[in-house]
Amino acid sequence: MKTWLVPSLALAMIAVPVVAQQKLGAVQGVRSPEQVYAKVCGYCHGRNVGPVILGRHLPAEAITYIARHGQNGMPAFRPTEITPAELDALAHWISTAPARKEEHGQ
Ligand code: HEC
Repeated sequence: MKTWLVPSLALAMIAVPVVAQQKLGAVQGVRSPEQVYAKVCGYCHGRNVGPVILGRHLPAEAITYIARHGQNGMPAFRPTEITPAELDALAHWISTAPARKEEHGQ
């Protein structure tokens, strides 16, 4: 009579391990400097909100300091938002990346 339950139950059991892989609150993998720049910094920098920072060879130490402490209109970013490893890679990338034609200053 209720044999239709058996296949759906079997499907549900197959689906469980797939769902279990998406652990809520799990620490994300390290994002590339390009990804962090595009998602976080590029929201303001190069879009008339913050000054252009690519292609200026700004020292990586200064970039790291400003990102952690903020500066006037710029917010500070916590290690939970940008991990130390991500910020280290980001600062070196910004310091050496070429300027982008499509970016505008303040
Ligand atoms: C909400 C907008 C906003 C975001 C997001 C933002 N910034 Fe800024 N940033 C600014 C503004 C505005 C200034 C200029 C501050 C001032 O007037 O002193 C600035 C200044 C800077 C400076 C100094 C530039 C100079 O010419 O001396 C650096 C370096 C910098 N930001 C890096 C970053 C990095 C790295 C990120 C991403 C992790 C980031 N910013 C994200 C708005 C932002």
